[in-house]
Amino acid sequence: MSYQLLTELDNRLQEINSQGLHKIEYPIDGPQQGTVTIHEKPLINMCSNNYLGLAADPRVLISAHEALDSHGYGMASVRFICGTQNIHKQLEDALSNFLRRDDTILFSSCFDANAAIFEAILTADDCVLSDELNHASIIDGIRLCKATRKRYRHGDMGHLEECLKQAESCTHRLIVTDGVFSMDGTLAKLPEICALAEKYNALVMVDDSHATGFMGPKGRGTPEMFEVEDRVHILSGTLGKALGGASGGYISGKASIISWLRQRARPYLFSNSLAPVITKTSLHILKIVQDGDAMRQSLQHKVREARQRLLAARFHILGHPEHPIIPIMIGDAIPAEAFAKDLISAGILAISFSYPVVPLHKARVRLQISEGLSMEDLSTALDTLIEVARKHTLIP
Ligand SMILES: Cc1ncc(COP(=O)(O)O)c(C=O)c1O
Repeated sequence: MSYQLLTELDNRLQEINSQGLHKIEYPIDGPQQGTVTIHEKPLINMCSNNYLGLAADPRVLISAHEALDSHGYGMASVRFICGTQNIHKQLEDALSNFLRRDDTILFSSCFDANAAIFEAILTADDCVLSDELNHASIIDGIRLCKATRKRYRHGDMGHLEECLKQAESCTHRLIVTDGVFSMDGTLAKLPEICALAEKYNALVMVDDSHATGFMGPKGRGTPEMFEVEDRVHILSGTLGKALGGASGGYISGKASIISWLRQRARPYLFSNSLAPVITKTSLHILKIVQDGDAMRQSLQHKVREARQRLLAARFHILGHPEHPIIPIMIGDAIPAEAFAKDLISAGILAISFSYPVVPLHKARVRLQISEGLSMEDLSTALDTLIEVARKHTLIP
């Protein structure tokens, strides 16, 4: 056994510790919601993916208790042995109906879904074209496949077109993009991407993890918002954010793709099926989301309020005006970390992100607005953010 490796890892840990760049885990005592308790201190939660506030919604909790009673705790099997219940099939159908797709396949996470798809459907004769800011799971999924890889500059349609031209001799082309880029809160240029895909005979895949449920008039995500639903061929998404926040992922799309994934997707074939309690509860959550116009409008109102107040206070923020991800740009890692720590001391849970998660000198504190926040909590959080930022001379 190489004990030297252990020493080396300790040294590396010490190095990132001394730079203040190590990640701290804050143990929440209780459910994920608008205010949380950490080390007995109440904090307004400004950093959760619980966009619709459903993670501890009483309707969801009742469903989850019922699901445990009716379908048990675990399946102890992958799907094709004895890990498929009626509810797995029902949830796949419900997701297909909601997203207006032929068919859907469930995975334990969206990370698994993205890890599965490229290797399963592409060969060495094909080409996959990926936005440079795509999520780590897409990057890792692409690494697993033998297709030619082309990474286009973030949102740069000229560069995507150049890459598509270079890929003309490949048998098939697949363009893949996040619907929402989670570090910036910006949206993919789906109409332009679809137009280029049509020009160069490529398929389009969108990972809509940060949009499904709350972006688009009916919550069907960025393709609905941009009115390109029938021009996007593959969708991946998560149950771990707006759709209840537990865990689980899926791919929805053309019937042939989904059927093939059931035969060949390795995380689907070789990992346990989604827990019954999540599966059955997600059926109820989808109904809530489909009837969720009021929830979406309320979230939009909170997002607008937060952005207006932050801009009025002269914060440097990024992101799409309608998206609940609001990065506050700081620059260097150490002041970003100090700002986030002071926010926590002042009762606001917000986290800083620095290199290598975001580019060097583009450290930020990323806020996420949730429908689980009351207007009162949101207002208190914004007051506190302004006060602490002034102390740190981030704003005048
Ligand atoms: C764009 C994107 N794709 C995929 C994932 C992974 O989702 P899951 O938590 O279901 O594995 C995330 C989560 O951070 C994400 O932001």
